[in-house]
Amino acid sequence: MAKTVLVSGGAGYIGSHVTVELIGKGYEVVVADNMSNCDLTCFEGVKKITGRDDIPFHQIDCCDSEAVNRLFDEYKIDAVIHFAAFKAVGESVAEPLMYYRNNLVSFINILEAAKNKGGCNVLFSSSATVYGEAEVLPVTENTPRLPSTSPYGNTKQMCEDILRDVVFATAGNDGADGQGVVKGIALRYFNPIGAHPSALIGELPRGVPNNLVPFITQTAIGKRECLSIFGNDYPTEDGTCLRDYIDVVDLAKAHVAAVSRMVEGRMKEGYEIFNVGTGRPVSVYELVTAFENVNGLKLNYKFVDRRPGDVMAIWADTTLANEELGWKAERTVEETLASAWAWEKHLAEQK
Ligand code: UD1
Repeated sequence: MAKTVLVSGGAGYIGSHVTVELIGKGYEVVVADNMSNCDLTCFEGVKKITGRDDIPFHQIDCCDSEAVNRLFDEYKIDAVIHFAAFKAVGESVAEPLMYYRNNLVSFINILEAAKNKGGCNVLFSSSATVYGEAEVLPVTENTPRLPSTSPYGNTKQMCEDILRDVVFATAGNDGADGQGVVKGIALRYFNPIGAHPSALIGELPRGVPNNLVPFITQTAIGKRECLSIFGNDYPTEDGTCLRDYIDVVDLAKAHVAAVSRMVEGRMKEGYEIFNVGTGRPVSVYELVTAFENVNGLKLNYKFVDRRPGDVMAIWADTTLANEELGWKAERTVEETLASAWAWEKHLAEQK
């Protein structure tokens, strides 16, 4: 029988791509989303791509524990992928309580339901932000986490720790009173970019984008006047920051590999962590140039001061994910940037 995966935040950017890949591999998916940072565009796109009009969708807030419990009562859930969280670094500095309440309470509710409803596999959507400004690059999963510079980053570290502790505490549960075993994987994403090759789903930032690639595509289409490149005086080859840009479809496939590892009982430990990146550092300037070249256009950009809180360089050692998940990033940065541009043009055509 097909395994069922609950995807919280499943109507969002990464959640919608993961839903497509899971369905493609024969999983049943239940999507839960409070629609606080998206509309139905991507969920409709998911239905078109998969040809499935019957994907269960629940507009619930995971901070509502009763609503979460009801989902676990209604479906036999084999794994949860928890995306539902706020993710804007700057906003989290201004509104820490909003971030702590939303990101921690929603995950605690998911874990409580997972434990109390007979046990479950839980995949947490973490971030390379937990490494901060690492001294040694590339970072492995054993690279020490550094104190976070934002409440957003803190919530990622805290949720990792909460998951680890729940896995530890439930390891001996035998199902009495419904109390089951929770197993967990945290995937630490580097910089997810791009869109599905169909251009039917992609990133839909509200307001002015914080992240680089949506700012690039919105500048190219004329929604923004000029891209500011934050800092060209870093001690890197061209003076701009280095990041590990991971294609969102590749990233989605890593989730399928991790879920399969959990539901097929192939985990080596109850709690595991994997870096999900390409292993290749790319500078901001290189990315901008690659975008121009692959899409045959010129971008209006200027160099400005560094953005406070940015790390100079971070990229992944992906050996563990390659070997243990049998997963590797496949799309080139050019293909990914072409897909991001196709998505922006698709959005413009909808208007
Ligand atoms: C941030 C978060 C990360 C989160 C990711 C995706 C931190 C420190 N970073 O990563 O946790 O997972 O977003 O949401 O918490 N840039 C420009 N101009 C722009 C925008 C960005 O030059 O208009 C540069 C930045 O300085 C940086 C690079 O582009 O060097 C990537 O920036 P961004 O896309 O915002 O991602 P990160 O800050 O790396």
